[in-house]
Amino acid sequence: MNRAKIVGVGAYAPKRILTNNDLEKMVETSDEWIVQRTGIRERHIAEDGEVTSDLAVRAAQQALERAGVEPDEVEFIVVGTTTGDMPFPSTANFVQHKLRAKRAGSVDIWAACTGSVYSLSIAAQYIQTGKYRTVLAIGAETLSRISDWTDRGTCILFGDAAGAAVLRPSPDDSGIIDTDLYSDARYAELLYQPGGGSKHPASHETVDKRMHYVKMKGNEVFKVAVRMLGECALAILEKNGFRPDEVDLFIPHQANLRIIEAAAKRLQLPMGKVFVNIDRYGNTSAASIYVALEEAWSQGRIKPGDLLLFAAFGGGLTWGSALVRW
Ligand code: ACO
Repeated sequence: MNRAKIVGVGAYAPKRILTNNDLEKMVETSDEWIVQRTGIRERHIAEDGEVTSDLAVRAAQQALERAGVEPDEVEFIVVGTTTGDMPFPSTANFVQHKLRAKRAGSVDIWAACTGSVYSLSIAAQYIQTGKYRTVLAIGAETLSRISDWTDRGTCILFGDAAGAAVLRPSPDDSGIIDTDLYSDARYAELLYQPGGGSKHPASHETVDKRMHYVKMKGNEVFKVAVRMLGECALAILEKNGFRPDEVDLFIPHQANLRIIEAAAKRLQLPMGKVFVNIDRYGNTSAASIYVALEEAWSQGRIKPGDLLLFAAFGGGLTWGSALVRW
């Protein structure tokens, strides 16, 4: 089997920035509360008319350019998103067209914030089996479109962004070593968007009841997330014969600084080995690990041969991990 290797990374965040001070004017909250409880200071918000596939395309173009790959070489596009352009066609389909990736098949993965690890894992399988030679894995979100800007318990958390990775067969033993994916819908109502699907089709009633916004039981998600993130990160290391202290950089889903710190503690990793950019992006859901990966790479924090650990959790609940030799 070919190992899949990430040969280019890209990221894009909309220009508009919403700070905690801006939020103080919208809901009853404070910069101090938000920083203390979440680590978030500001987040990017898409302009009117700027849609998820636009963000995805910007990130993908950067990743392709860095990889030296032309759009028409891409054979498959996987987009992790829960805030796609529309229920159908898929956002990946729009990305395919806007990128002019003429040969590419495309599919969306709905795994909420774990859409990063899910999309990477699925993209990697096509390389590993030899089915495709060039696959684009993307996480892209405009969470601002489903955030309830009157609910201080959720609206302070989310931001808009996209990140992308180009995958090709590895010429050596570097690349994606393993991925693990999990899900359990017993926890579905801890974090969900109830309106708009076949259970509650869009109607005046669903709009009146604000069912098209994110609903979350924040502190219950918090407890489960801390456990799942630590467990899945440890499990993938153990399964592949690595100790936590062999990890060069842990790139967790950026949902809450306290969750990240708890997971690092569980792994006994110093925060110097943990990548954090939640202060400037908030929770960008399926985009977050890709955006963090791109920043870590741009900042020179990743060297060839480094062992990278990704771990994410999100609505579903879903959770998962990936182990990468850079
Ligand atoms: N500003 C000020 N006060 C607030 C705010 C706010 N923005 N939000 C809540 N509060 C208040 C609450 O009303 C509550 O007040 P009370 O004690 O008078 O009732 C108090 O602060 C404590 O509320 P908690 O919800 O217990 O606060 P907590 O410390 O748990 O922090 C938070 C809330 C930040 C949401 C945290 O629970 C969290 O991060 N949870 C995980 C969220 C997450 O990771 N979601 C994953 C999303 S992934 C995806 O798939 C989209």
